[in-house]
Amino acid sequence: MAETDLPQDMQAVIQLNDGYSGSADGPSISDASKYVKNANIPVPTPAEGQVLVRMITSVVNPSDLHFIKGEYGQPCRKGFPAGFEGCGIVVAAGDPASAKLIGKRVSFAVSLTGSGTWAQYALTDANTCIVLHPDVSDIDAAALIVNPLTAVAMVDLVSQTYAAQKGDAFIITAASSQLGKLMVGLGADLGLKPIAVIRRAEAAEPLKKLGAEQVLVTSEPDFADQMQSAMKNLKPRIMLDAVADQTSADIFAAMPPHAKWVCYGKLSPQNPQLTQMGQFIFMGKKIEGFWLVNWMRTTPTKQKIAVFTEVQARFADGRWQTDVAIKLPMQDIVAGLAAATKLTDGKIIITY
Ligand SMILES: NC(=O)c1ccc[n+]([C@@H]2O[C@H](COP(=O)([O-])OP(=O)(O)OC[C@H]3O[C@@H](n4cnc5c(N)ncnc54)[C@H](OP(=O)(O)O)[C@@H]3O)[C@@H](O)[C@H]2O)c1
Repeated sequence: MAETDLPQDMQAVIQLNDGYSGSADGPSISDASKYVKNANIPVPTPAEGQVLVRMITSVVNPSDLHFIKGEYGQPCRKGFPAGFEGCGIVVAAGDPASAKLIGKRVSFAVSLTGSGTWAQYALTDANTCIVLHPDVSDIDAAALIVNPLTAVAMVDLVSQTYAAQKGDAFIITAASSQLGKLMVGLGADLGLKPIAVIRRAEAAEPLKKLGAEQVLVTSEPDFADQMQSAMKNLKPRIMLDAVADQTSADIFAAMPPHAKWVCYGKLSPQNPQLTQMGQFIFMGKKIEGFWLVNWMRTTPTKQKIAVFTEVQARFADGRWQTDVAIKLPMQDIVAGLAAATKLTDGKIIITY
């Protein structure tokens, strides 16, 4: 079941490598041509349960960069387009039930058996597609899944699993990231007190406006004093951490008894050292990880639908928005990705 005018071939940015590289040096990219190249490849055909999407926009997340470098939680696939999430129009389906999506504008994340979003057409599971509200822009729709779902899931983790009450503080590192900003706003809306940790002082004011109770700047000379006084005054029990370097470990060591370090990203290539193992024995401190893929697998469908609905409502009414650093045409990814990743304060949006 398909639109009648589908082409045989499409332009795509395909992976050059298979499997894992064994490296773990973070999402920085100095030359994308080591990992991907432009190619003309056949338009994929959807199998049962799958749909084919004509791409409108997509986003580059740190996970895409870790992935093409072979250091993500799933292996590279040589010859397949890269790119995990995006927005487009469903143009073909592998079975009658999925065909009800044909013609719909959707946000989606590519499944393990799919084909990436850095191509004119992408293949994904029909059940990962979110039919879009007309008020959600194509740019917000490009980045509707990975970060927004993670933001809701992790702030929910803070309030539900760790039973944080109104007025309780929690720490967000790399708080100037798109995900960090979403979580600061969401935490503040719930009456929690987000402590935003950033490395660029210029990013502090916007975070305060979003609702950060306190902003700690790691590059400031008085960072250690500021951090100690935040621990004393606000007593945060949870750190949502995407940096995972020595500063993260030092913040965790300064947190009160029963504190939890939830690691969900590895933006820094530096590996932290744990110097106070007694805190795990005598103070009940814990380190754990969060991965959206596992959350999607284990969360009941009803709860997931509630989260999707909340995410769309926040983008549709303007409480959330996707900040854009640059728009990069798909055919310029190989040449332009490295320079684009150096821009701060917004996402790279791929256009088609
Ligand atoms: N586990 C999961 O399921 C999951 C899901 C979604 C996202 N994530 C993770 O969440 C993190 C944020 O994603 P995002 O899409 O929001 O990122 P983003 O918008 O691309 O922003 C990343 C920002 O982090 C800051 N940063 C980069 N390297 C850093 C370092 N070494 N130390 C401190 N700050 C650093 C930079 O901000 P400044 O330039 O302002 O310093 C950078 O702009 C990533 O690690 C990503 O992999 C994980």
